[in-house]
Amino acid sequence: MARRLPSQPPVLPGFSTINILGSGGFADVFLYEQNMPRRQVAVKVLLSEVVDDHVRRMFQAEANLMAQLSSHPSILTVYQAGVSSDGRPYLVMELCSAALSERYRRERIPVAEVLRIAVKIGSAIETAHRAGVLHRDIKPSNILLTAYGHPVLSDFGIASTVSEVHTSESVGLSIPWSAPEVLSDETAGTISSEVWSFAATVYSLLAGRSPFEMAGEPNKTAELTSRILRARVHPTGRSDVPPTLERALARAMSRKPEARQQSVLELVRELQAIESELGLPQTAIEVAMDEWARPSVSDLEDRTRIRGAVGAPPHSPNRRRKRPAGQESAVEPGSRRPHTSAAGSPSGVPTLNRGRPATAWIVALIVGFVIVIVLGIAATVVLVRSNSEGIPRVAAIQASAGAASVRFSWSNPGLAASDSYEITTGGGVSVQTATDFTQDAVAGDRVCIIVSVTRGGKTGAPREKCLSVGG
Ligand SMILES: Nc1ncnc2c1ncn2[C@@H]1O[C@H](COP(=O)(O)OP(=O)(O)OP(=O)(O)O)[C@@H](O)[C@H]1O
Ligand SMILES: [Mg+2]
Repeated sequence: MARRLPSQPPVLPGFSTINILGSGGFADVFLYEQNMPRRQVAVKVLLSEVVDDHVRRMFQAEANLMAQLSSHPSILTVYQAGVSSDGRPYLVMELCSAALSERYRRERIPVAEVLRIAVKIGSAIETAHRAGVLHRDIKPSNILLTAYGHPVLSDFGIASTVSEVHTSESVGLSIPWSAPEVLSDETAGTISSEVWSFAATVYSLLAGRSPFEMAGEPNKTAELTSRILRARVHPTGRSDVPPTLERALARAMSRKPEARQQSVLELVRELQAIESELGLPQTAIEVAMDEWARPSVSDLEDRTRIRGAVGAPPHSPNRRRKRPAGQESAVEPGSRRPHTSAAGSPSGVPTLNRGRPATAWIVALIVGFVIVIVLGIAATVVLVRSNSEGIPRVAAIQASAGAASVRFSWSNPGLAASDSYEITTGGGVSVQTATDFTQDAVAGDRVCIIVSVTRGGKTGAPREKCLSVGG
């Protein structure tokens, strides 16, 4: 929290000020009541001393970005943005609790809880990366908790934009979670530097301190920076943190970016595997799978955009081909899928329903026959191709019903180190390395699961299993 008095809350039409929620390096966050619909909201207002035309423009672009990403369950919901009558840009957001950012310093958060938070926040970061966007300020204070206790990521690029324009000691607040190549100005941010910051954040939640902070030693900007540049990470010092978790975090904070996990998703999968190792249920990875569901980020600040090829990193479970930067969305905002009417029918009514029915039916039968043959050939080609790619297929899936769930399990068909299982259920798609999956179910439900092996961005042949839960 910033050591300064909060600014005056601006007068915002349609909102009444209640009190201050917190202060950061560049902004104050106030509790307001929105008049219609009536609800309490958090309003982040930039300090007037940091506002100039450039910052105003960037703030607006990044508010748009956050609003587009905020349909993700682990990204803070942004309701509205604007510029107050005194010229300060503001963001109206879901009211959350910032308790986590103080709690991790005060108490030992259970490993299971940290892993659950990490998989959810990692999914949010991965979603942003797939949309071609870097967060650039991943740290514990940017993880908030919703009223229902769900962790959400806030502050996409906003603080880092301002910090580039106004460098002061307060900017040093994010140094503990910044990658060495960012601190040494080799880059303004990459997927790799976000892998570092994400790992440093998870480490902090476990250790109760940031990874390069040392008890009893000076921890000012200069000392922290020099320790980060040397990048020698010590273990968290907790006996309940398994060595696999210490290793995964240490690898993600390697000095050389190429030695780190290649994507946040890769690290998230390792965290899921550690959940299984500890006998914990795996937290689902939530990443938008379809093109239409991905945010379109055309007005994004350039430095926040991932350069080069945008899309799923290696080992992505996503089957779709990605578009290059600037064409993230398959469907333009506001555009609709072209209406498919029957060929040659200006009214859109299928011609087969009008005139000469006998001939029409014969034509329909022939066309249907041809389609069946073509589909049959296509299916064979797909089958042959997926087999020829050598991705193993799960042999058989066992299902057993518990009191309020169904547990599916299968044996390892020969996974390579970087392979995972892609699990499709009625609730969506998730990726894991464990060979079991539990789905909530009650008597009368029919629960189905499809399991495929994913390798290097390709998905192998699926195996399906369904179980009807008896009453
Ligand atoms: N949506 C929100 N609901 C409730 N409190 C919030 C919300 N957003 C931010 N806060 C509180 O306001 C404080 C200031 O937030 P802000 O994002 O400006 O700073 P920060 O993340 O702590 O640091 P920095 O300025 O380096 O980003 C936070 O520490 C948090 O306590
Ligand atoms: Mg913040």
